[in-house]
Amino acid sequence: MTSRLDGPLKVTGQAKYGADNNFPGMAYGYVVLSTIAHGEVEAMDVTAAKSAPGVLGVYTPFDPLDLRKPSSPLFGEMWVPLQDREVTYYGQPIGFVVAETFEQARDAAMLVEVSYRTRPALTSFEDGLAAAEDAPSNEDITVLEDGVESIEDALGASPVRIEATYRTATQNHAAMEPHSAVAVWDAGVLTIYSGNQGSDLQAADIAGALGLDRASVRALNPFVGGAFGGKARTSTPAFLAAAAAKALGRPVKAALTREQVFTATATRPATLQKISLGADSDGTLIALRHESWCTTPTDRSFVEPTSHGTSREWYATQNLAVSQKIVPLNIPPTTFMRAPGEAPGSFALESAIDELAVELGVDPIELRLRNNSIAPPGKDLQWSSKHLDECFQTGAERFGWADRSPGGRTDGDWLVGMGVATAMFPALRFPASVEITLGADGTAVVATSGSDPGTGLLTVLSLVGAESLAIPVERITPRLGDSALPSGGMSGGSTGTASAGSAVMIAATEVIDALLAVASSPGAPFEGAEVSYEDGRVLAGDGRAMEFGELLRAVGRSSVSAIGSSAPGEELTKHSFSSFGAQFCEVRVHKWTREARLSRMLGVFDCGRIINEKAARSQALGGMIWGVSAALHEGLEIEDSGRLANGDLAGYLVPVNADIPDADVHFVRYPDTLHNAVGAKGLGEIGTVGMAAAVANAIYNATGTRVRHIPITIEDLL
Ligand code: MOS
Repeated sequence: MTSRLDGPLKVTGQAKYGADNNFPGMAYGYVVLSTIAHGEVEAMDVTAAKSAPGVLGVYTPFDPLDLRKPSSPLFGEMWVPLQDREVTYYGQPIGFVVAETFEQARDAAMLVEVSYRTRPALTSFEDGLAAAEDAPSNEDITVLEDGVESIEDALGASPVRIEATYRTATQNHAAMEPHSAVAVWDAGVLTIYSGNQGSDLQAADIAGALGLDRASVRALNPFVGGAFGGKARTSTPAFLAAAAAKALGRPVKAALTREQVFTATATRPATLQKISLGADSDGTLIALRHESWCTTPTDRSFVEPTSHGTSREWYATQNLAVSQKIVPLNIPPTTFMRAPGEAPGSFALESAIDELAVELGVDPIELRLRNNSIAPPGKDLQWSSKHLDECFQTGAERFGWADRSPGGRTDGDWLVGMGVATAMFPALRFPASVEITLGADGTAVVATSGSDPGTGLLTVLSLVGAESLAIPVERITPRLGDSALPSGGMSGGSTGTASAGSAVMIAATEVIDALLAVASSPGAPFEGAEVSYEDGRVLAGDGRAMEFGELLRAVGRSSVSAIGSSAPGEELTKHSFSSFGAQFCEVRVHKWTREARLSRMLGVFDCGRIINEKAARSQALGGMIWGVSAALHEGLEIEDSGRLANGDLAGYLVPVNADIPDADVHFVRYPDTLHNAVGAKGLGEIGTVGMAAAVANAIYNATGTRVRHIPITIEDLL
């Protein structure tokens, strides 16, 4: 079993994250945040701050740093701080103080006096919903069987119906590494050290924001302390540090405090989802309607694709209607968070399916398998590879599902229940390029700009590189997190292994061709011979063989390299692609205190070929824990003022070890080479999908109480 290569560096403190970089003459920045949710900054008195000890610069919308809105290929025109006086949420960056030390910058920031022209703020989801009834829906989808006029008719004609409304809370990514950056100018090149999900994308954003050529910005992020979608965009500290370094002619470090991360980055929106299921008395789904509303900031920049991510694809049904509406509020920006769409969407859909199973008196696994789809409803393209049934069957055996009774069981003062849910996450990949360099020392460098936010990409580069070159993994040096390397795009959407892995395989073929051309070239040891490559060696028909390092030394070359690129293509016209899983959990609810405690959980996943068992298990496990966290712990409380009531790690609960006593992960292994040559499908995000519903379903099984919102608290079970 391969341990991740960066693990020892991380746990011994040797891994240098963005803010760990220090330079002579470095100055420190502190971000000032708004204390109203809506209005305009009328004035900022910076006199006291400017004359405070060590202060080098105080930047505000009245005296801004030079930043323009970059146009990101992924996110369109991006907001940058200090360029206007509009305040649209509490905790919005409105100032930046730079000083000789961090403490001086922070002290001076406290001296900035802000006056606002306040406007009424809309911060409550409830109030926003009332106002948003007529909001446009994001791409409604309706599929109806012949002769059916409307989804209402299909639902009305169904013998068994479930209708329910579910809610999920706002969540913050709360990555261990707060958003931070160090910016350094050297000989006309700006280097930015900042944890991010794609170094080349970050370099492009910074170049755009500062009006520089792309070539004069280099972004480095060899280590990223968690991202989860929350570091897909270039962060406020990165923009501010880069612009301040330019303005002051000194290296600048900027880091958000933990509390600032909660507002000055982005969150997962809260959702409200109405689900209607119509089924035959044997459980066959006839109609499914999923209407969803999510909170969004006032610029309406993000829609959480709950119904699109679940009901659109998960079950075979003849009649389907999904819609997604937004509720604009004066709240911090919303964005992708681990399994955007599927995570909150699956809480609603998989709770509703459980409700249908109860109504029908059918086992919830049986009901799911009865409606197993061979293609997304309304689409002709069948799943390339789907072993969800095996996930459920294997899971049921490993978990002891047969011992579950419809009314749960008791164990002393504890009510014990089991719950189950489906997990799905689309198998995607993005364009990626990888360069392989074979060296005269017999080693190979496998390099891409892509980032490893803890997901294991660095180790994947080594493993797939070693396999593709047929040499021991110890002879591979993987490199990533540097915008100067060939573009690996963004580490997001559970795409890293499929995207970069495919490019590694192509790069290996290319570099082997280049090596063979060198070997048989005039004056080379195999001049004119037919040569082939095997296990790191060049072979000739007459039996002669040379290690590639030896060969390169013989021809006086230090290395030979080639770039391989891969992108999604023709396969998209032939199949639908997804990873699948079955989530199981057991929850104990105390008869008297009503506390709910997870006691066991199991996830069985069909994610194609597993490249690195240990890292894959860790990814799945982390996701499952996140699902439990969403179900029982996490949720940001937004006060009417727009201030977060629990925007820190004291008030924003996440599970600790004692909350997760027993967790098991299992993979069914069916390489999906219809999706990509490596055969791997995504497994980063699917771990979290469905788990919150499995917890809620287990609580229902234990107590008979159906809670239709998360997080579920003691008050819900009284
Ligand atoms: Mo993904 S939302 O970038 O974890």
